Amino acid sequence: MVPLVAARAAPPPVPSTERRTPAAARPTTIACLRIPFAPISFPLRTGHCPTWQPSSQLRNTLAGEHTRTAEGAVATMLCHLPYRRRMPTSQSRPQRSATTKTKTPPAFSRDLKLEALAKSCTRFLTGNGIRSADELLATIPPGTEVDNYGIGGPVTELEVEVASLLGKQAALFFPTGTMAQQATLRVHADRRSSRSVAFHPACHMETNEERGYQRLHGLFGIPVGPRDEPLSIASLGQVREPIAALLLELPQRALGGTLPSWTELVAQVGWARDHGAAVHLDGARLWESTPSYKARHRKSIADIAGLFDTVYVSFYKGLGGIAGCCVAGDTDVIEELSVWRTRHGGRAFGLWPYAASSLSALRTRLPRMPAYYRHALAIATAIRDVPGIDVLPDPIQSPMMHLRLSVSLDEFRERTVQIARSDKVWMFSRAWASLGPNLQEFELSVGDATLKLSPDQIRELFVRLTGGSGRRSVSRR
Ligand SMILES: Cc1ncc(COP(=O)(O)O)c(C=O)c1O
Repeated sequence: MVPLVAARAAPPPVPSTERRTPAAARPTTIACLRIPFAPISFPLRTGHCPTWQPSSQLRNTLAGEHTRTAEGAVATMLCHLPYRRRMPTSQSRPQRSATTKTKTPPAFSRDLKLEALAKSCTRFLTGNGIRSADELLATIPPGTEVDNYGIGGPVTELEVEVASLLGKQAALFFPTGTMAQQATLRVHADRRSSRSVAFHPACHMETNEERGYQRLHGLFGIPVGPRDEPLSIASLGQVREPIAALLLELPQRALGGTLPSWTELVAQVGWARDHGAAVHLDGARLWESTPSYKARHRKSIADIAGLFDTVYVSFYKGLGGIAGCCVAGDTDVIEELSVWRTRHGGRAFGLWPYAASSLSALRTRLPRMPAYYRHALAIATAIRDVPGIDVLPDPIQSPMMHLRLSVSLDEFRERTVQIARSDKVWMFSRAWASLGPNLQEFELSVGDATLKLSPDQIRELFVRLTGGSGRRSVSRR
């Protein structure tokens, strides 16, 4: 066994001549770091350490059967690296005095005062407003059964309902879309000879997931086309290498919820199939795509999903559940995906609170999507001509839009606070993007809270936010 005492012995002072020895001329000791009881030895090259010399005790150990010099001896020793000397000891560690105050760590990217003001409001411009834990818990019906590691109860019920809604053989519940989509693309790649995945450069997987697809699954991303334009068949034509999958996002959130025409969508999917690639849909907001495809092309949600091998849908964005999503596809793909859900740690002992809330959200809000879309169209019409506002896309294509406002961040904050205090209406917590000192982009997604404000009231709010002349307070209905 490794004599720990030798390993912990302090290194002796190094003769001044050795300190001057150039690194290249220094003898190198190759040592094996052998962990007691573990049959593994890690080779360590110690010659790079100018100040380290083995202690006499350690030299004795090194002289044993496991020891050799750079010329050939093997050493067994416990790590004797310089960093050990820099680790604080109980003496060197700064002592906390009795009077030291424990400070609350700064909130990461959060403005707690602004959040408190937002919570004090009674009306909200975007989505379903700020909801309390009580309100979210109320989305879980009394008498809900529990699942067991994702099997049974509302989890299975939700998976069956989603698969049938999307016209797929099976569906699998995941706690997050981040986990779900990376795993899905991995499954597609494992079934093909390429590990490359093509997607729009502004998609969530590329911009918000810390390159999980690459770091966890060894996939390569191929961003296709310009960041500020929707993906097109023309851009796909520029991809000159085999790909395992094409990921399409409907609607494209970063562009304000754009949707390709049906013809364009079918062409993009066809391109992927012609290249032997799977086609995966990031349908985080697929629900929001349905009114437009229905109105413009008479296509149902199952028609849209039918184009894709796998479809991811989220239950907490437009639908307003607590969290969670499903991936739907062929049974064999979903079964393989469930192995990755386990590997990712996504098979929690009880997923029922998320799944039950998701079921309620799906059943309550999916039928409201056409109303959200109509309201969004009316809002866009009402605010389009307010000076200092650009609506993107124009015309809007889903119940969401991005708005470019000619305001500075300071003006935005000041006016938002003023409107919140005087009218108890909360507009935006933050800008989606700051495009310059006097140009900010905001995301407006229409939900239950937005429906409570008329297009005229919303226009009034934007006039005030952009510093226009309208100073009336927003009337209560
Ligand atoms: C388009 C899109 N895809 C995927 C995700 C990831 O979802 P989750 O937050 O469940 O990981 C998001 C989240 O905002 C999203 O907007």
